[in-house]
This record gives sequence, C-alpha cells and structure tokens, in this order.
Amino acid sequence: MNSQENMPIALVTGVGRAEGIGFELCRQLAARGMTVLLTARTHARAQPLADMLIAEGLDVRPFALDVTADEPIQHTVAAVAAEFGRLDILVNNAAATGPFGEKPSDADLQTVAHVMAVNLYGVWRTCQAFLPLLRKSRSARIVNVSSGVGSHDDPLFGLTRGNKMGSSYGVSKAAVNAFTATLAEELKGSGILVNAVCPGFTATFPGAEAMGARPVSEGAAGIVWAATLPDDGPTGGFFRDGQKLPW
Ligand SMILES: NC(=O)c1ccc[n+]([C@@H]2O[C@H](COP(=O)([O-])OP(=O)(O)OC[C@H]3O[C@@H](n4cnc5c(N)ncnc54)[C@H](OP(=O)(O)O)[C@@H]3O)[C@@H](O)[C@H]2O)c1
Repeated sequence: MNSQENMPIALVTGVGRAEGIGFELCRQLAARGMTVLLTARTHARAQPLADMLIAEGLDVRPFALDVTADEPIQHTVAAVAAEFGRLDILVNNAAATGPFGEKPSDADLQTVAHVMAVNLYGVWRTCQAFLPLLRKSRSARIVNVSSGVGSHDDPLFGLTRGNKMGSSYGVSKAAVNAFTATLAEELKGSGILVNAVCPGFTATFPGAEAMGARPVSEGAAGIVWAATLPDDGPTGGFFRDGQKLPW
C-alpha cells in the first residue's frame, strides 16, 4: 500500500526518455509527495528511468504500458489495483508523430493509422482501462496531453497555420481534443475532471531551444496544473499554461 494513504497516486504514460515531458511530469508530480507510476512501452525501459527519480528521493514505480495493446494494459491495471486499489491521476502523455512536413494529400495511410493508434485510440483505450480505478478515487483527474497543432484556431500552431508537424499528428491531436470533450461530458458529476493540455513548444530534442522551445520544466508545469486541479476546477477544456486555448 501507499505509505502516505492520503497522497494521490498518479500514472503517466509514454515515459520512454529522460529528455521527454513525461519524465519531467513524473518528477514534478512525485516532488509534490505523490506516488508516481512511471510507465513506458516495456518494463525494461521504465525501470532505469524510475531509478533515476528514486535516486532523487522520489516515490516512483516502474510499470510496462504499451498504449496500443489491450492485454498488457489489463495486466498493468490489475497490478495497480492489487497494489493501490485506486488511481487518482492519469496523464496520457504517450504520442507518436508522422513524418515532418507530411501532407494530407499524399500521407501514407499506414503511418496515419499508427499515429492514430497511439495518439487517439491509445488515449481512449488507457482511459477505458483505468476508469474503474479512477472511479475509486475521491477526486480523480485525467489529463490528455494534446497540442496546439491540433487546434483549429491556435494562432501559432493551428491546423491551418502551416506548421510542419505533419497532417496525421495534427488530426490525431484534434481527435484527442474531441475525445476529451466527450469523456468529460459523460463524467460530469462523477468527481473526475478531464482536460486536454498543450505543453507548448518544448525542448525535448537537440537543437529545439535554439528554435525557440521552452524548457521541459515549463512545458510540464501546465500539465501538472491540470492534474492537480481543485474539485471545483474546469472539466472538458483545452489549456496551455492554465489558460484556455481555442479548439
Ligand atoms: N515537445 C513538444 O514541443 C510538444 C508540443 C506539443 C505537444 N507535445 C506532446 O507532449 C507529449 C510528450 O512529448 P515529448 O515531446 O516529450 O516527446 P517524446 O519524448 O517522444 O514522448 C512521447 C513518448 O511516447 C512514447 N510512446 C510512443 N508510442 C507508445 C506506445 N505505443 N505506448 C507507450 N508509449 C509510447 C514514446 O516512447 P519511446 O521512447 O519508446 O518511443 C515516447 O517516450 C506528447 O503527447 C506530445 O504530442 C509535445
């Protein structure tokens, strides 16, 4: 059992790299005293990353979670249920990108299907799988990590603003936003708040800072904000840095 019974138990998907936003999310959530379940596609990938945060004195546990695979997710759900009996925070951070500059007219549909499998169905599947444990929380939060690239009206990155992140990625994030709105609507009154958050352009790859990307700690902070909303906080919204973004 969690030694601090009253502290939230948070799970973050897609923590496959120390440079990624997911790793920093685990650090920031655990630094608030939470027990954080750091998940990556395989346990072998999650373990050394969890060890790095454990070495910082944080309560972080590694788990395998491939968001595209039903049966392994159910194993992880069962393991979390056996050890903790509930889940308080689910952060759907895992994502895939298509090729840079991919155009809708000639995108390879197998690539499109893969991006949708991770970014939309992966989020959908993970939410469905963990909902029974989230319903056991006194006050649960789901945060779907999205992107302004999937927004119709984001003035910087929006779907029709000529960004080069690729059509499948933008479409998948727009779909994540739509899924977030529908799940939040269904769960209204349940105590589970569901929101989508864009971390902003964040330096998770070499050379990104020189291109104007913000530090990972700043990108992660807006996601932590949505993961730790008070009970009367918003649900069904799309945010960056705690500010509403246009759909
Ligand atoms: N960085 C930015 O500027 C930016 C801007 C807007 C939104 N975002 C969003 O922020 C989130 C984190 O992005 P990031 O920049 O930190 O990139 P990242 O390090 O590539 O994070 C994505 C992670 O998802 C994992 N993943 C891929 N397929 C998976 C699967 N089937 N099951 C489980 N995990 C899987 C990857 O694992 P592997 O390492 O094993 O491939 C990777 O660790 C994403 O949702 C992204 O769309 C980022």
